[in-house]
Amino acid sequence: MNEYITIALTKGRLADKTMDLLGRAGYYCEELKDKKSRKLVFVNEEQKLRFFLAKGPDVPTYVEYGAADIGVVGSDILMEEDRRVHEVLDLGFGRCRMCVCGPREAGELLKHHEQIRVTSKYPNIARDFFYNQKNQTVDIIKLNGSVELGPIVGLGDVIVDIVETGSTLRENGLMVLEEVCPISARMIVNQVSMQMKTQRIREIIDSVRDCIDLDF
Ligand code: PRP
Repeated sequence: MNEYITIALTKGRLADKTMDLLGRAGYYCEELKDKKSRKLVFVNEEQKLRFFLAKGPDVPTYVEYGAADIGVVGSDILMEEDRRVHEVLDLGFGRCRMCVCGPREAGELLKHHEQIRVTSKYPNIARDFFYNQKNQTVDIIKLNGSVELGPIVGLGDVIVDIVETGSTLRENGLMVLEEVCPISARMIVNQVSMQMKTQRIREIIDSVRDCIDLDF
């Protein structure tokens, strides 16, 4: 066992849950628990594991190009980015819903298939939903965050975004108008690593799979 396995983690909400699950499966990195640290790369020399923290949308990129052997990322990002990676496990946490949301009145615009403006961090998911599933022509405007602002300040009619607790919508006078699909965290693997480091990667997948909390 001379080679390191590099694991890309999604910074923020998913990183802690990922480390809990990896810990239950027997893979540790104590350094990662220091919340004040600005460090990005962490090594467990004993287990020859290297972890790094990246922004969600970049995780599939690191894995596709082989900078990471394994990644953990939301299925929303995988749908949006459409990268060539193996998706090997649904990890069961990070559950939320991809939804079309807006003020109550916008529900009518959806029913009557009117040409509307959609603001979203997920333009590809929004395009696929409206054009291919609903046969509705829409204008899509890409935003990078706080997407709920779109209908509030008049940039768009509805948003396509993830809803977890629903509190962001409630606090901003918006509601779920339609559900696009459920979302959860996934483990992905680089296609070459799967061939070249098969045994170690299989071991990791199998031990993580055994520790997934099925009660989520
Ligand atoms: C996400 C999403 C919603 C919010 C939903 O934003 O874009 O705004 O969480 O969660 P809730 O239903 O529990 O309120 P995030 O916190 O990732 O920040 P962003 O808006 O800057 O992208």
